[in-house]
Order: sequence, then C-alpha cells, then structure tokens
Amino acid sequence: MKFFVDTADVSAIKELNDLGMVDGVTTNPSLILKSGRDIVEVTKEICDMVSGPVSAEVVATEAKAMIAEGLKLAKIAPNIAIKVPLTWDGLTACKAFSSEGHMVNVTLCFSAAQAILAAKAGATFVSPFIGRLDDIHMDGVELIDDIRTIYDNYDYKTQILAASIRTVNHIIDCAKIGADVITAPPAVIKSMVNHVLTDKGLEQFLKDWAKTGQKI
Ligand code: E4P
Repeated sequence: MKFFVDTADVSAIKELNDLGMVDGVTTNPSLILKSGRDIVEVTKEICDMVSGPVSAEVVATEAKAMIAEGLKLAKIAPNIAIKVPLTWDGLTACKAFSSEGHMVNVTLCFSAAQAILAAKAGATFVSPFIGRLDDIHMDGVELIDDIRTIYDNYDYKTQILAASIRTVNHIIDCAKIGADVITAPPAVIKSMVNHVLTDKGLEQFLKDWAKTGQKI
C-alpha cells in the first residue's frame, strides 16, 4: 500500500520523506489556505522534494475553466496529478487530461457509483473520503471495500486513494481491504508508531539497564 501525505506543510512532508515514508502528496484548497503559501510556489517545492505524484486541485467548476487551470498546474512539475472534483464537469476535465497523458485524481468521491464514473473517465486515482462519510454516520470503510470489489470485477486500472483518513484504524482497514493508496495527515501517519506495550516495555528495559550499572 502506498502512503501519500495529506498536507501542504513542507517541513512535515520532509520529515516523513527523509524516512522513506512518502510515496506521494495530496493537497486541496483548504490545505493550501492552512499553509499560508502561494499554491504554485509551495506545490513546486513539494514536487522538487517528492518523486511520487503530487495532487494539486483546480477550483473552477466548469469543465473548460477546469482544463485551463489543470494545464497550468501540470506545468509546475512532471509529477503533478491534477485534482478535479467528482462532478460531471470534473469528469469531463478528467477525460481530457487523461487522454493527454496527465495523471488525474478525482476527488470528493462519496459513492461507488461515482467511483465507477471516475474509472470510466480514465482517472489515475479516485479519492473516496472515509472520515467525512463517518461524520454523517455512514460507513466510509465499507465504501472502500465496495469500490475494491467493483474495480477488481472489471479490472479497472484506476487506483483507490483512500482519503479523509482520521485514525490509524482507518489505515489498517484500508490495508486489509486492499486500497492502493492512503492519504493521511502527517500526525495520523506518525501515530501509527504508538503502542502502550512498547512504551511500557521500553520503560522496564531502561530501568533494568540502569540497575546493571553498565554502559554501551
Ligand atoms: C484528499 O485528497 C483530501 O485532501 C483530504 O483527505 C480531505 O480530508 P478531510 O476530510 O480531513 O479534510
């Protein structure tokens, strides 16, 4: 399973990238706002650091304008995946981009029906949002499972990029189902290391070691 980092925070990406834990990056307009940076500058900086796909999102809502914006974003670096929303105009732009050989991430996917359309339109990635479905008491992980089944039934090549990840359990569930990629905030990825028995075991080892009076 590939790990994308869901942030436009360059130092957070660098920390994980230096450990070899970053296969790509996803951004969105809210994350650009949070970064306080210019979209082109920050996206370029991320693309220079990370060799995998970096999603940069269009903000136009009409296909023609989306295509114009997407082509501008694609010029930032060769590893840009143009991110478009899962609307009819977004699918139109997706088809245009994929026909020209650009990577496309179709975002804001909340149903299996939408995911089928994204695959038909030639999306490189489809981004089903787990956490936001959970927020409205629907089962986000079940959606990933449904899309996996459907894509496998028809050998669709679009990669399932599980997004809106809030917990370590979301990541584990996605791994068990066989999502191709997860994108998660740096803090969630880093919290995968935590285990109470690791902390407890380490504390005991250090106490016992101190009693030996030895040094390494
Ligand atoms: C995906 O590409 C989105 O940027 C992201 O996962 C949205 O997550 P959120 O629901 O936590 O904002």
